[in-house]
Amino acid sequence: MRSSTFSRLYLLLSLVPFTLAGLPDYTDGAGHPVNSPYDYQRAGNSGPLLLQDFHFLDLITHFDNERIPERIVHAKGSGAHGYFEVTNDITDITMASPFSDGVGTRVPLTMRFSTVAGETGSPDTNRDPRGFAIKMRTKNGIWDWVFNNTPVFFIRDPTKFQLFIHSQKRDPATNLRSPTLQWDYWSQNQEAINQVMRLFSDRGTPASWAEMDGYSGHTYKFVTAEGKWVYVKLNVLSTAGLNNLNATEALSLAASNPDYNTQELQQRINSGNYPTWNVSVQTMTWEQSQNFTYDVNDLTKTWPTDEYPLRPIGQIVLNKNPQNWFAEIEQLAFSPAHMVPGVEPSNDPVLQARLFAYSDTARHRLGPNHLQIPINCPMYSDSGASVANFQRAAWMRVDGGAGSLDPSAPNYPSSFAAPVQFGNGRPYNLSDIADPVSGPGITLSSYKLTTKDFEQPNALYNTEFSDEERSSLVANVITALKQVTVPQVQQRSVDMFACVDPKLGNLIGTGINVTVSAQLSCGAAN
Ligand code: HEM
Repeated sequence: MRSSTFSRLYLLLSLVPFTLAGLPDYTDGAGHPVNSPYDYQRAGNSGPLLLQDFHFLDLITHFDNERIPERIVHAKGSGAHGYFEVTNDITDITMASPFSDGVGTRVPLTMRFSTVAGETGSPDTNRDPRGFAIKMRTKNGIWDWVFNNTPVFFIRDPTKFQLFIHSQKRDPATNLRSPTLQWDYWSQNQEAINQVMRLFSDRGTPASWAEMDGYSGHTYKFVTAEGKWVYVKLNVLSTAGLNNLNATEALSLAASNPDYNTQELQQRINSGNYPTWNVSVQTMTWEQSQNFTYDVNDLTKTWPTDEYPLRPIGQIVLNKNPQNWFAEIEQLAFSPAHMVPGVEPSNDPVLQARLFAYSDTARHRLGPNHLQIPINCPMYSDSGASVANFQRAAWMRVDGGAGSLDPSAPNYPSSFAAPVQFGNGRPYNLSDIADPVSGPGITLSSYKLTTKDFEQPNALYNTEFSDEERSSLVANVITALKQVTVPQVQQRSVDMFACVDPKLGNLIGTGINVTVSAQLSCGAAN
């Protein structure tokens, strides 16, 4: 992060009393000078401790409470600070800051990379998708890109996420992670296959966070001030290219250095070898979406780049490691709902669910005032953004009471002492950019598995993957399926790969002594 980002925090720190030597006095949490951190009070030389000893109670109770809940998913991760620079004018498709601020504009950002299923101490190199989250601080507030390193996801129905994650985390009976549960889920919900193929190639074990890409996955909308809009997907492509570990390297690093990727990122930045990504946007009009072969809101599909080319928009550079990991990384609270005017969500039901889930979990993990924590609060950056609303109170209000407002100002829109002005939000009407909604009032899941769901996995296997990726996919799946203890789950999994390509199904089946079923069920025909 640029040094001025925490300037308000530094200002507060500079008020701490300094001794003649220039160092602050050691104090307890309430600021009382104490002679030594090891001081404690007891009755006589060998008697019991005294309850009056605030210094010791402050020390022990703070320690007792030092752990906050870990993220329910993406618990293990780290990150760094840097900037986004606008490299191309895209004001024809969006009024969003920073793009509307001109080519060359730089905004500060923080990125956090993570694995999904493991706990906070789990190895960085485990096979898993990688979280790729970016907190951009624009003059119009925070814009979070809560992306993964894969362009597709396992699900396209929001009710599946919770149950899918249960199958990937620990078995409630044994507290063990279970390949049987994992493959049982995937083989019953085969729209996951486009992501499973990526996960079990060596792309599931990136060598470096700096050498992997990030993708919005979801479709969003970019909107101009006049209310003209297009569907978009965002791509963040590493200038260093992709670099992956094979299964043996990943396992060996998991044992020898569980924090390998964390350390590698820090060393890279310390040596001035700054990670850099080129950012581009794919666009699709409403009319194009009507003729697109897949549903524009289906998160299990990519948009082919020959039909929907990458339009360059900016560059990301990471150039500063955190100075305090808890304050600057662990306390980060990202949300896909943190969007700036000029960016709107699509009707992708998974995205819609996420718009709610992240602030909800942040209230549990960090409290109702998590947006005032310096790393999350736009006012602690030099972006020029302010926070001015009628919210006060709640646990851990830490900004003096009212963001950039006088804390004594009325906390409702007063008719005689209005503390804020209105009218500078979105200039366009949301109703003008909404997709037409039709059909019955309530629709249950409308996505059924069809043969089309295997088209992109087939192209990935036959066209996009290198020979090496093809063989590592087969070997990695065989290793995993050998650990599955229920024969019908093995059979369904082999058949799923046969639906992608009969050759692939046979190769995997041979590896675990399972014959591909004579009658395959690869979803409804189109
Ligand atoms: C983290 C929910 C799908 C990317 C999280 C967290 C929750 C969550 C509760 C923990 C956040 C925290 O404690 O701060 C969901 C739900 C989903 C979903 C309910 C679907 C219904 C996705 C998808 C992506 C994604 C599709 C990527 C395209 C991430 C990332 C993080 C995360 C990158 C880590 C953020 C960080 O570094 O703090 N998700 N998620 N999630 N999720 Fe999701």
